[in-house]
Amino acid sequence: MFEDLGVFLRLGDATDVVTKEMYDFEDKGGRRIALRPEHTAGICRSFAQHRPTTPWKVWYSGSNFRYEKAQAGRFRQFDQVGIEVLGSTDALLDVEVISLGWQFFQSLGLTNVVLMINSLGDPEDRAAYIEALREYFESHSEKLSEESRATLQRNPLRVLDSKRVQDKTIIDAAPTISQFLSEDAQAHFTKVKAGLDALGVTYSVNEGLVRGLDYYQRTVFEYVSTSLDSAQTAVGGGGRYDGLVENLGGPATPGVGFALGIDRTLLACDSEEVFQGASPQIDAFIVDVVDGMTALRLADELRAAGFTVDRAYDGRSMKSQMKVADRSGARIAIIIGPDEAEAGNCTVRNLMTSEQSLVLQTEVVTHLASIVGERNPRRNTQ
Ligand code: HAM
Repeated sequence: MFEDLGVFLRLGDATDVVTKEMYDFEDKGGRRIALRPEHTAGICRSFAQHRPTTPWKVWYSGSNFRYEKAQAGRFRQFDQVGIEVLGSTDALLDVEVISLGWQFFQSLGLTNVVLMINSLGDPEDRAAYIEALREYFESHSEKLSEESRATLQRNPLRVLDSKRVQDKTIIDAAPTISQFLSEDAQAHFTKVKAGLDALGVTYSVNEGLVRGLDYYQRTVFEYVSTSLDSAQTAVGGGGRYDGLVENLGGPATPGVGFALGIDRTLLACDSEEVFQGASPQIDAFIVDVVDGMTALRLADELRAAGFTVDRAYDGRSMKSQMKVADRSGARIAIIIGPDEAEAGNCTVRNLMTSEQSLVLQTEVVTHLASIVGERNPRRNTQ
């Protein structure tokens, strides 16, 4: 959950996640600690520390913290599930990683998630591109929004991320990264695309996709939900970070991975209605006008058998308990009056049809199953 602050500071001073959004504090031993804003840096720190054999394939899930302007789909604490693979530059590994994330969204039943990919080239390509962007945006800086002018000073790449209308035409005409890719980086990207084609994974190349963290080289990608109407539509993202382990003091080791945003994925699931909501209707309501002990026992037995059951409390009258039973939306009322208590049975009334019958208390579970269907037992009642 937390790391030495230095681990994240090495991600670069052009990264907002590090410079503006990190929660950091001093612990009782005087160490500077940060709540992790993401997992990848910690994974690379761990790799550099323990030096496992490569390729090293790991996964993680857990919370991250970013001091962002909280809004729909953007939280200060959020959860990610992710994978990282360290030790290979093979473009087909990128394909495996990207398609695994893709399959995750497919298997959830989300049909409005699109995959966007791009290549940021090798460090020299990227540096040349950033320089070209700096020159270009500076020559148009009087037309840029104030926010983008400030971003330009820190990191010209991030100006491409601006969603401000004022910046749009200038961004649309900006130089694109593909003009700066080395032959190797180009060949790598072509192989990534060919691999995705071979697996039937649909994607679009988005040259404006630069990602918010600055450790990426070559492949970057994002899964975007088109059914989220907030400004925050990326449900997951990742890419290649071949220089990061070295940067953190380990041996030069390439890496690629992704993190899926669980909170936003759930929002996308809600908006596509992929999960059936739990029914608020309960199976049975127990009315016990004797002393409540039979209701206590039967409710326990029925719940153990997997039924949803409620009951009334405080020894209320039959009339008042039946009212609550009606309001509960239960399909069945199980009624125990003095006669039933004495005979060891109960009246089972179908509240939809008003049909009713006398059932032995020992047979209530089987009887209820015959009306509402079997349920998955919650615990072994033997
Ligand atoms: P990221 O794009 O910063 O990448 O985050 C990945 C995903 O986490 C986003 O697509 C989004 O769904 C979710 N997320 C990010 N910030 C928030 C927030 N404030 N509130 C809710 N959800 C959020 C990374 O974190 C990289 N470590 C991914 C990676 C792994 N790259 C290589 N390996």
